[in-house]
Amino acid sequence: MKALILSGGKGTRLRPLTYTGAKQLVPVANKPILWYGIEGIVAAGITDIGIIISPETGEEVKVKTGDGSRFGAKITYILQNEPAGLAHAVKIARPFLGDSPFIMYLGDNLIQNQLDPFLEIFNKQKLDALILLRPVPNPSAFGVAKVDENGRVLQLVEKPKVPPSNLALVGIYFFAPSIHEAIDQIQPSPRGELEITDAIQQLINQKKHVEACNLEGWWLDTGKKDDLLSANQIILDSIVASTELKVDATSQIIGRVQVGEGTEIINSKVRGPVVIGENCRIENSFIGPYSSIADRVTMIDADIEHSVILQGAKIVGIHQRIVDSVIGQRAQITNAPPRPKALRFMIGDDSQIELV
Ligand code: G1P
Repeated sequence: MKALILSGGKGTRLRPLTYTGAKQLVPVANKPILWYGIEGIVAAGITDIGIIISPETGEEVKVKTGDGSRFGAKITYILQNEPAGLAHAVKIARPFLGDSPFIMYLGDNLIQNQLDPFLEIFNKQKLDALILLRPVPNPSAFGVAKVDENGRVLQLVEKPKVPPSNLALVGIYFFAPSIHEAIDQIQPSPRGELEITDAIQQLINQKKHVEACNLEGWWLDTGKKDDLLSANQIILDSIVASTELKVDATSQIIGRVQVGEGTEIINSKVRGPVVIGENCRIENSFIGPYSSIADRVTMIDADIEHSVILQGAKIVGIHQRIVDSVIGQRAQITNAPPRPKALRFMIGDDSQIELV
């Protein structure tokens, strides 16, 4: 069994963060989203992993993730020159996949469940494809499945205007090599992509063995800001213990808080669950629950909660609480004391500022 992780795409819904970086490398609880997928795959005993990368962000994914040794895996990078669809990605990965069955894993998906039970069903029943389904309130944003009363998959459609059910396709699929023939038989969709949804439909049309499992645990497609914040909240909820903390006498640490090497916390209050990276300076500040602060962040006279702050960002002199926010790498939010008379911005394309 091999695994194919898709880590290409343009990440349009996470702009502006994705102008300068891959969406799959955006951190959740200070760890790139992509790495959770890799760890889940390795935990299921699969160590031969191909990762599809794009020309825009591939180099960054490669440099950060490496050859797989840190995960106990062997990673092969496969360049997809154009975002021509998920089934196209499988097509170009054919030399890597050979005739092996494989898990296909979309690199921006996070699930709570372990993969082993699904893998067991796939292997035991010798399926051509096993898909995972989950009811959602907005099925039109996903691939959607129509199933009969016995749970058999009748029809799959990609992002339908009129969805046949509320069952979305989760971005994790198990395939036998028969998927390659199905892919050879499909045509690009109206959005110009070779859809994996159409390839699975092709298997169904040919009366191949396609089954679906309902995903019971949580599932997050981290493509958008609110999904990213929910993922961050859920993962932070599962951090186990606090690290041993060196803080000064006027600081207070409450609940589960992890702090990296070289970080200084001075006259501040941190209420977990929170993770703080390495070499940060936190001074006269409050960090509230469900916040992830990456490496080299400076916070002085600042107050945040339920937010994700990326590497090297600087927040100084902001006394209103910053909530539900994602602040990009090296972004600066500063304020001249004592009270601002005006707001002065230098904000990148597609940024969002809400004064609430
Ligand atoms: C892709 C698939 C879609 C699936 C979704 C899950 O959509 O095409 O069928 O439901 O992933 O994350 P995308 O996120 O590329 O729009």
